[in-house]
Parts: sequence; structure tokens; C-alpha cells
Amino acid sequence: MNNLTRRALSAALFTLSLLATSLSYAGASAQLQALQAGGAGPFSAAAGEALWLQDNNGRSCASCHGRDPSQPGKHQKTGKPIEPMTVHANPERFTDAAKTEKWFLRNCRWTLGRECSAQEKGDVITWLSQP
Ligand code: HEC
Repeated sequence: MNNLTRRALSAALFTLSLLATSLSYAGASAQLQALQAGGAGPFSAAAGEALWLQDNNGRSCASCHGRDPSQPGKHQKTGKPIEPMTVHANPERFTDAAKTEKWFLRNCRWTLGRECSAQEKGDVITWLSQP
């Protein structure tokens, strides 16, 4: 392989890795746009983090997902491991809107005793999809 080919190949690989990174954030930004289209926003990562850590009679999002969402969590009742929640640590996150919606519903009810608002969902996704 000559030098020129090698350089062209490494440029192509670099472009591909940039593309893969931006694709993994595309799911989160599509979901944020949908929430915004419904009238929520602007979103705040700090508010998302506060909701995550907020204690509700001994229950919080951190009970299962951990206080540091870039690390794996552990289900409070079953002990089953849960993959990290940040897009940076887990590019699968927020790529399937139906899955996200299903778990927001279930987890907000369990943790807060009510559904999360569109604003709260947007705040949490914003916090979890920081680069
Ligand atoms: C009782 C345990 C438990 C608690 C508490 C909990 N979760 Fe979860 N959560 C899970 C499990 C289990 C999954 C599904 C497994 C997975 O996606 O890795 C999940 C998945 C999710 C997903 C899906 C993400 C995606 O991939 O699209 C979101 C969003 C989520 N949780 C948000 C929250 C929020 C916000 C709270 C606090 C209000 C919370 N969770 C509290 C157990 C919990």
C-alpha cells in the first residue's frame, strides 16, 4: 500500500467514526424534537439530573440506574444488571422511541407515582445525551 492510499484510507475511517458518533446521538435529538413539537422545552440538563437524583420515599431513578448513568445499573428488586443510560456510554439509548416511551411510563409511575411530563422527559434525555 503506498502512502497516498494509506492516507486516503485513514481519512475515510476517520469520517466513518465521526458518522457513527453522530448517528448514535440522532435518536436522542429526534426524540427531543418530537417533545418540542408537542410544546415542551427549552430543556435543561441540570433539571434532568435533579429529577434523576430526587428521592421519593426511598425511590429514585438512581435506585436502579445508579447515580452515575454512564455506569451500569442494577435493578433494585431483581438485581439484574442494566446497561448504562448515557448515549456516550451506550449508543443504543434513545434509538427506539417506542421503547423509550414504554420505560418512561413504567419507571416514572414506579418512582414518582405518576407519569413524567414531556418537559421532564426532555430534561432527562438532554442530560443523558450530553456528549
Ligand atoms: C425499578 C427499577 C427502575 C427504576 C427505579 C427506573 N428504571 Fe428506567 N429502566 C429500568 C429497566 C429495567 C429498563 C429497561 C432495560 C434497559 O433499557 O436497559 C429501563 C429503561 C429506561 C429507559 C429506556 C431508555 C432507552 O433505551 O430508550 C428510560 C428512558 C428510563 N429507564 C428512564 C427512567 C427514569 C427517568 C427513571 C426515574 C423516574 C427510571 N428510569 C427509574 C428500570 C428502572
